[in-house]
Amino acid sequence: MLEFTLNDGNRIPAIAFGTGTALYNQDASAFVRLAIETGITHLDGAQMYENEETLGKGIKSSGKPRSELFITTKLHILKPGQTVRETLVESLGKIGVDYVDLFLIHDPTANRKEATLSEIWSQLEALKNEGLTKSIGVSNFKVEDLNEILPGAKIIPAVNQIEFHPYVLKAASPIIELCKAKGIIVASYGGQTPIVRVTDGPLKDLLPKIRERLEQTRGSPVTEGQVLTKWLLQKNVIAISTSSKESRIKEFLSTVDVPDLTKQEIESIDNAGSTIHKRIYMKHIFNE
Ligand SMILES: NC(=O)c1ccc[n+]([C@@H]2O[C@H](COP(=O)([O-])OP(=O)(O)OC[C@H]3O[C@@H](n4cnc5c(N)ncnc54)[C@H](OP(=O)(O)O)[C@@H]3O)[C@@H](O)[C@H]2O)c1
Repeated sequence: MLEFTLNDGNRIPAIAFGTGTALYNQDASAFVRLAIETGITHLDGAQMYENEETLGKGIKSSGKPRSELFITTKLHILKPGQTVRETLVESLGKIGVDYVDLFLIHDPTANRKEATLSEIWSQLEALKNEGLTKSIGVSNFKVEDLNEILPGAKIIPAVNQIEFHPYVLKAASPIIELCKAKGIIVASYGGQTPIVRVTDGPLKDLLPKIRERLEQTRGSPVTEGQVLTKWLLQKNVIAISTSSKESRIKEFLSTVDVPDLTKQEIESIDNAGSTIHKRIYMKHIFNE
């Protein structure tokens, strides 16, 4: 399994299975078990997904040792008087683990009335120091959000999880550059957008050509989805996807065995992708 090293020294599997979107507020247990049995080790959860219990159930039923899994959850809305620690302890109870590998601030616009981003971040720092989470990071942070917490941060976020695919490349460039400069690993959600949600975009004719070239080089099937995932991995971006289908999870995992895109192929995707802006999820990240 391909892994990246975080800025705190911990390792993170570069391919992750998400329990949001399609599994939001659903019983995720069978899907999580299937994903783990198919080879997934990195599970992306969140308090907001309202399915942490079934994430835990799926983990337990897979029989996979905790030490071989990388589990993420994310801070949602604080109830009046509730601390960030209390929410994480609740999540740990629901998932049925003693610690998570990564705890993220899910949304910089949430909890603004209760605390500043820096105050929330310092609570996450304390949770890492206590060992309730191995690493800490953020999600949906744009440049201004990171710049709000960085000056007072004792620990630099390890990860920023954002919507990232070729159709937001141009708008995402400032935050990607800042993350790179600070050693923050970017994790992508919505990465399959050019073949799932915006199917008539400027990559329509390019992806099949690259797919065909890779398939000839590989000597076995390559899909357009793998081209998009490979594009992420070669940019050192973690790919988070989800699927209800074993075949698609296998395909997602086996992207690491697909030959590399050439520099020219990456540039051609970058250039074509940058000609439009199509965001699916959180509006505020791209200052729209
Ligand atoms: N931090 C945040 O705010 C945030 C926001 C959104 C998502 N996320 C995380 O990221 C995870 C993945 O997000 P995402 O769902 O947007 O990822 P995605 O990889 O862009 O899309 C996955 C979805 O596309 C479908 N799909 C994949 N390949 C396909 C193909 N070739 N043809 C047709 N459909 C295809 C899958 O359905 P099948 O079941 O048919 O395979 C699945 O429902 C979420 O579960 C969540 O953990 C985080």
